Amino acid sequence: MSSPKTPVHSFLVDRRSIRAFDPRPIEDETLYLLFEAARWAPSAFNEQPWRFVMAGRENETEFQQMLELLSPSNRSWAKNGSVLILTLAKMFTSHDNRVNRHALYDVGLAVGNLSVQATSMGLSLHQMGGFDSAKSREFYSIPEGYEPISIILVGYPGNAELLPEHLRLRESNPRVRKAIDEFVFSSKFGSGHSLQQH
Ligand SMILES: Cc1cc2nc3c(=O)[nH]c(=O)nc-3n(C[C@H](O)[C@H](O)[C@H](O)COP(=O)(O)O)c2cc1C
Repeated sequence: MSSPKTPVHSFLVDRRSIRAFDPRPIEDETLYLLFEAARWAPSAFNEQPWRFVMAGRENETEFQQMLELLSPSNRSWAKNGSVLILTLAKMFTSHDNRVNRHALYDVGLAVGNLSVQATSMGLSLHQMGGFDSAKSREFYSIPEGYEPISIILVGYPGNAELLPEHLRLRESNPRVRKAIDEFVFSSKFGSGHSLQQH
């Protein structure tokens, strides 16, 4: 089901992980709003375990340093984005210092908020798991109990024609998703559901 008939919000349906970015800086007040959106995400125990380290391209050294953490294939197109954001999770609860098994889930919710806010402002996001987590830990002096999760590239959409061919083709590939029947069940896992599409 790649083009839902139901009115899912266009910020969700039209978002895609682009690779063609326009390397212009993002204003501070715009960036601030992205983190403000992340801030309002729900979290288990209201722990708010998300942490972010950001590097904007206006500080060339900082931007290059975070870029260096990416896998070479990600780096090849991420270099044109405006801001890189390392996402981290605090893996222990503050109230009783136990493993917070919802920490990654909560960081995902915060990034989901950030992503919708970015889309609403004409920005694009590309999240990346392909980065050197051990190096990031060392580089940013990340304390024990915090886990680097992803690096997100944020920027304004650019001209796909400037990408190498293999990446350019991916910009216009149809976005593929599982059918709802494949992941929504009732009565038992894998059993299907009784929802009707209107
Ligand atoms: C946690 C996470 C890690 C990802 N890692 C990478 C990555 O390292 N490189 C990449 O090109 N895309 C990466 N992606 C983007 C996915 O490939 C993309 O979201 C997926 O193919 C669906 O496409 P869409 O976002 O355009 O709908 C990642 C996405 C997420 C959420």
